[in-house]
Order: sequence, then C-alpha cells, then structure tokens
Amino acid sequence: MAIVEINHPLVKHKLGLLREKDISTKNFRELASEVARLLTYEATADMETEAYTIQGWNGPVRVEQIKGKKVTVVPILRAGLGMMDGVLDLIPGAKVSVVGLYRDEETLQPVPYFQKFTSNMADRTALILDPMLATGGSLIACADMLKKAGCRKIKGLFLVAAPEGIEKLQATHPDIDIFVAAIDERLNENGYILPGLGDAGDKIFGTK
Ligand code: PRP
Ligand code: URA
Repeated sequence: MAIVEINHPLVKHKLGLLREKDISTKNFRELASEVARLLTYEATADMETEAYTIQGWNGPVRVEQIKGKKVTVVPILRAGLGMMDGVLDLIPGAKVSVVGLYRDEETLQPVPYFQKFTSNMADRTALILDPMLATGGSLIACADMLKKAGCRKIKGLFLVAAPEGIEKLQATHPDIDIFVAAIDERLNENGYILPGLGDAGDKIFGTK
C-alpha cells in the first residue's frame, strides 16, 4: 500500500488557503477542485502507455497514448463531488460511479444510501474521491462496495487524512493506494480532523 502525501508547493499553498476559517463557498470549491487536479496528476503517474504512429507535419511520428483507458471516478456523496470536476479535467473520458455514504454523527459509522456503478468494474482502476479521510469508515465501506462489484485496482484521493484513518485502512485494505494533500495530526473527540478543514461537505455545498 502506498501512502503518498503530495509535497508540492502549489498543493501546500492551496491547502493553506482551504484551511482559513472564513473561506467562502466559492473559494473553497475552486481550491478543492484545483487540489484534486494536482492529486490526479500524481495518482495517474503509473498509467501504462502504448506507442502508435500519426502523420505529423513532417511525416510519420511515433506518439503515445494511455493504454486500456479504463478508469472510473468514484465520488463519495456529498463532499466527493467537490473534487470531481478537477479530476475529470485531466481524465475527461472517465466513467463516474457514485457512492452515497454519510457518517452517523453519534456512532461515526458509515451509513450507505446510494450506489450506481458503471459497467465492467473488474477491468477498471477506481479513483475514490473524498476530501476527508477521518476514521476511515467511509473509505473502507466504499472499498468494500467496489470490491464486491469486482474492482481489483483502487486508489483514493483526499485533501486531508488523519493518521487514525490511514492505520485502519492499512489493516483492512492494504492493497489500496492513497494520495493526500496533507496528513494531519489527529482526530478530535467528535471524529473531526485536526487541524483539518472543518466540515468539507458543508463548505462545498454552503450548508449549515
Ligand atoms: C465526511 C467526509 C467523508 C467522511 C469521512 O462525509 O466527506 O465521507 O465524513 O469520515 P470517516 O473517515 O470518519 O468515515 P459526511 O458523512 O459528513 O457526509 P457529507 O459528504 O454528506 O457531508
Ligand atoms: N468529515 C469532515 O467533513 N471533516 C472532518 O474533519 C471529518 C469528517
């Protein structure tokens, strides 16, 4: 399992802006999308390519294209939708498989309420999108659903992750690679990441 914390100045800068207490909905959305784009760049670095020949301006040229083309982007509702546009900017042909989960505020357990997957899940790399990996419950539940549908290659993209959630993921799904803008310090007593971003879903949707 690879845990990749993106150590790039643009990511650090944008994450700093995302952490500001009074950030507007518009700015949070734009920055979440921009960081998602940068995470996608890293998360797709191992994609295989194959050579083919085109007619260039001065004759035939060997160029490369992505081999296989099979990616499905998996936003976890709601907050994962806030990363989707950024990811699709770079992988415009990706199919979208949606998972609906919310975290029970008392128990912190994930409660599934929706699932709609694209075809041929066994042949695709799934990119799970969620701004927050806190206790890890939502990610683990999503990975369980994807594996049940036949998925064999799963990666997760997060803005912020807590060490507690990463540890739980390593114990349950050691085959999943995750790409995060920052691994923060810890969870508080209510399961929120510190220093974190607060409630990412509320910030993206302008609720509360
Ligand atoms: C948040 C977040 C993750 C989950 C992380 O969603 O977007 O899905 O909590 O917590 P966990 O790692 O402890 O499971 P939330 O349940 O608040 O729903 P929302 O996206 O609808 O706001
Ligand atoms: N969900 C959030 O939106 N933020 C956290 O810090 C933890 C879970």
